[in-house]
Amino acid sequence: MAVTGSDLDVAKEFLIKGELVAIPTETVYGLAGDALNEKAVLSIFEAKNRPAFDPLIIHTDSIEKAAIYVSDIPEKARVLASRFWPGPLTLLLPKKDIVPDLVTSGLDTVAVRIPNHPLTLELLAQLTFPLAAPSANPFGYISPTKPEHVDQQLGDRIPYILDGGECEVGIESTILGFENDETIVYRLGGLDINEIESLIGPVVLMPHSTSDPKAPGMLKSHYAPRKPLHLYRRDEIVPGDAETGYLMFDRYLEGADRKYQRLLSPNRDLKEAAHNLFAYLRELDGLPVSEIKAELVPASGLGLAINDRLQRASVPA
Ligand code: TXA
Ligand code: MG
Repeated sequence: MAVTGSDLDVAKEFLIKGELVAIPTETVYGLAGDALNEKAVLSIFEAKNRPAFDPLIIHTDSIEKAAIYVSDIPEKARVLASRFWPGPLTLLLPKKDIVPDLVTSGLDTVAVRIPNHPLTLELLAQLTFPLAAPSANPFGYISPTKPEHVDQQLGDRIPYILDGGECEVGIESTILGFENDETIVYRLGGLDINEIESLIGPVVLMPHSTSDPKAPGMLKSHYAPRKPLHLYRRDEIVPGDAETGYLMFDRYLEGADRKYQRLLSPNRDLKEAAHNLFAYLRELDGLPVSEIKAELVPASGLGLAINDRLQRASVPA
């Protein structure tokens, strides 16, 4: 098991030595290493069992520092960065040579974000390099939103988990890229697309693909529990046999055992639902059930990102 604590000096020392540390962010926990150290980056891929064609996000703590790693920040990107950073926004920007090709899987853009968590912002401020950090889960499994999630799955592979409590947002950052005059959404996430569009105009949603390396962020099967997950609209979901778990939006399903049910948000608050999504999926996955039935949430705002995660989690690996 890894040591869990909130000592920035300890985290810093491991990272400077090229070792990995799990870090808290407002979205999910990240598995962090020195983004400029190829050995550290390689060990991130190894620890997660992640295919080398799936590039990493680099994390830093200011736009000025981000500019060290990218050759251009288009106007729309600047507008979004000044409004949403620090926050659940990742921008795909043209990379400079200083960023190892390993980080970007050979692509000429690098994904950059400033996470909004006080401990991690302080850590980044004290480091002389950015942190490459994918979500701290084995490739394909549910993302971690609590330090114990990280410990359960990667604890034997990393020396230290920086404890920043539960992740506030609960789903990963929204990823945006800029091509010609278009803004492309590579991954729906913690930001409401309407808010983005109200600042910079219409955006284009990138369709999912199964394993197209040109769109590595869009792998169809992802975030999946070990138990089969089946999705339903509210009016379609009916009780299964006794060995069924239920992920419901706001109300319990009549006729099914409540101890095998989780409510994402009794108040129909999509922020609360996003916050609970991965933790509840994990809880259900750990119950003595043989399948999980989940209800899709209202498809607007953050609900689009929640349904996206549910859909990908329901595709068998
Ligand atoms: O909220 C988050 O973004 C979390 C926290 C830890 O910051 N990180 C995260 O990283 O979700 P990860 O590696 O689990 O997901 C990053 C996604 C991947 O699907 C990857 O394919 C995509 O970003 N990505 C990274 N660089 C890319 C690039 N240059 N072009 C297209 N997609 C890219
Ligand atoms: Mg991930």
